[in-house]
Amino acid sequence: MKLLVAGGAGYLGSVLIPRLLDRGYEVDVVELFWFGNSLPDQVGILNKDIFSLTVEDLRHYDQVIFLAGLSNDPMAEYSPSKNFVLNAAAPAYLGYIAKNAGVKRYIYASSCSVYGYTENELYDETRHVSSSYPYGISKLQGEQAALQLMGDNFSVISLRKGTISGYSPRMRLDLIVNTMFKTAVRDGLITVNNPSIWRPILSIDDAATAYVRAVEANAKISGVFNLASGNYTVGEVADIVRNRLDEQLALRIQLNIKHIQDFRNYKVSTEKAANVLSFHPTGSVKSIVDNLIENSHNFRDWDNPLYSNILTFRELDNKVEIPSMAVAQ
Ligand SMILES: NC(=O)c1ccc[n+]([C@@H]2O[C@H](COP(=O)([O-])OP(=O)(O)OC[C@H]3O[C@@H](n4cnc5c(N)ncnc54)[C@H](O)[C@@H]3O)[C@@H](O)[C@H]2O)c1
Repeated sequence: MKLLVAGGAGYLGSVLIPRLLDRGYEVDVVELFWFGNSLPDQVGILNKDIFSLTVEDLRHYDQVIFLAGLSNDPMAEYSPSKNFVLNAAAPAYLGYIAKNAGVKRYIYASSCSVYGYTENELYDETRHVSSSYPYGISKLQGEQAALQLMGDNFSVISLRKGTISGYSPRMRLDLIVNTMFKTAVRDGLITVNNPSIWRPILSIDDAATAYVRAVEANAKISGVFNLASGNYTVGEVADIVRNRLDEQLALRIQLNIKHIQDFRNYKVSTEKAANVLSFHPTGSVKSIVDNLIENSHNFRDWDNPLYSNILTFRELDNKVEIPSMAVAQ
């Protein structure tokens, strides 16, 4: 089976693609390489923007996976117009040409951020979505465009992921557990902006497993699936990071607890993914910290701008011409 992964050289793709190769799939990526390329050599490279692909380019793929776009709130707020082009229009266009090329399945990287601010209830995929900020709105637009392409010969699977954390060869230190790990080890301090806020946390290994399950799901399966390794309050995440670093590395970490209002607060049910995709997460905040400890020799230059999406994106925005971004100038 031949797969095309848009945005495959990013944080998630750099862990997922070796897993797909290991299972015998042939994988190409379409990429702008904003954060470099840590992919294995056997990956085929289309070094271009999603918008420059045509139906013809997609004829030989069985499935297409969308992992591209602006992947967090700071990037989306830095440039809301580019956010809506790259997070809403790009996945819509890619799904559209994939369907017309005879591709059998389109897997879309959605986010639990579509749930916005909820009261303390467990949300399943039937619940109302309401976000009022650019990233959440655009991820929902991308998802809705993808889903309405669904048909008898075109499966669409949208994976609403919690915040991913853990080690990737394309490292990000701007994701909740990774950020806490960084400041804890570097400064002996974890800052918690609001300890009572709920977040679904997804280990990067569980995230990659979910995509493998989606690729291998029965052809008739389509739909939206929440993905998380577990639901935690941010205060609890900080405690686990702190305790684990004490147990494993004898580090004494201070907590700086603040009470800043957040516009995202949600916890999600992953029962549907378990029942339909056979997704049974094995990760936890504790296992994520262990994974970061084990790999920390690879990302000890904590302040490398490549580990921060917003720092890199600001630089790119000023220096590099990105074709689809020109659309939104
Ligand atoms: N990381 C998370 O916690 C998380 C959680 C929920 C959803 N998601 C979604 O999952 C996807 C992957 O996240 P990630 O953390 O790996 O992101 P990332 O920022 O590490 O990678 C995105 C990649 O997409 C590429 N790209 C962006 N626009 C492109 C375009 N128009 N054409 C070609 N390539 C393009 C970039 O070069 C980059 O390598 C994103 O869509 C994100 O919104 C991520």
